[in-house]
This record gives sequence, C-alpha cells and structure tokens, in this order.
Amino acid sequence: MEKLIIATKNKGKINDFNQLFKKFGIEVVSLLDLDYSNDIEETGSTFEENAAIKAETIVKQFNLPVLADDSGLEIDLLNGNPGVYSARYAGENKDDKANIHKVLDELKGQSFSNRTARFVCVLALAQPNKSTIFKRGTCEGIISESPQGENGFGYDPIFYPVGFSRTMAQMTHEQKNEISHRKNAMTKLENWLNTKSERR
Ligand code: IMP
Repeated sequence: MEKLIIATKNKGKINDFNQLFKKFGIEVVSLLDLDYSNDIEETGSTFEENAAIKAETIVKQFNLPVLADDSGLEIDLLNGNPGVYSARYAGENKDDKANIHKVLDELKGQSFSNRTARFVCVLALAQPNKSTIFKRGTCEGIISESPQGENGFGYDPIFYPVGFSRTMAQMTHEQKNEISHRKNAMTKLENWLNTKSERR
C-alpha cells in the first residue's frame, strides 16, 4: 500500500491519521484534498457496518485503499444506545447539548454503578479486491449527573473515563488522546501494519 484515502473532512482526524501513516511511508489523501462532496448515508446498525459502507463506497469510486471510521457512545442501561445514533440522538440537527440532555434525562436517578458506558471507535480499511479489515478501540467510563468541562466535543462533558475524576471535557486534547477509543483503535491498526511490514 503506497497511497491511502482517509474518508473524513475532519482536520483533527486527518492530522492524526497523517502522523500514523507517515511512519509506514504511506501517502495520505483526505476527502478535503479530493473535494469529495457526495453524502454517504450511514444506514448500518453497527459501527462496523457504517465504517464499511463509507470505506467500500469510496474504494469503488477511486480504486484505491480507503480508511473510514465510525464512533459513538454506548450506555449499558440504555441497551447500547445512543450507539450508531450518537450524533443525531436528540434529532437530525446533530445538537451536542440536546443529545447530552436526552441522555441525562434517561439516566435520571440512577446510581453511578448503573451509569456504565464506553466510547467506541471502529476503523475499516477497505482495499480493491480484498476483504475489509476492522480495528475496534474502546474507552470505558461512567456517565456523570451533569455536564462538566468545556473541552472536546459530543458527549465529552458527561463522560468520566475509568480511573479519572475528570470528564473528558476537563482534559486537554493531549490527555484525551492518550486514552481515547480513537487512539486505541489506531494503536491496533498500527500493530497490524507493523506485522504486515515485518512479513514483507
Ligand atoms: P463520528 O463517527 O466520529 O462522527 O462520531 C459520531 C458521534 O459520536 C459524534 O457526533 C459524537 O456525538 C459521538 N462521539 C464520537 N467520538 C466522541 C468523542 O471522542 N467524544 C465525544 N463524543 C464522541
């Protein structure tokens, strides 16, 4: 693999993936570089399905390897919701504050032991004429009773990672990046790339 398309327009993610693939001498182009404006509908019921839909759709268009990710928050008491609906849990306008309030309402009165949750990130690497491979990273935690902190995005203000007395929104970008679901998925991908380059 010499060139790879990253199926995102998020500059933070592009930067993280660039750094990872640079180590393997793989040239990375993003959907921003390609000026790609097609809206791919995420119709899957799992993170794996949604990441594969994105990656495999773009492989067919460009005939190059494509890496796509899908992520979200799973809350045990809510049977894994918001899950693949994380971005639009409180409605199609993808409002982080409204999503947070919906979750807090649904958990109202529940003890901390009933508020267990995890962030999940699935990376799908699709290549022409090969099976798609998946790497899943998680970050376990507890949902707080009220939002705390201003950093990050999404559900960060209500997520206490296990072993921390700060929410993810009370951490710096660097601290979050050491323990996040995305980092854990990327480490698994890096290990997989390492074993592949050793076999060459
Ligand atoms: P995406 O697949 O990265 O676009 O994430 C989908 C949704 O999951 C986001 O809109 C957030 O609501 C939630 N989410 C994913 N990762 C994080 C995170 O690191 N912190 C907070 N919320 C997240």
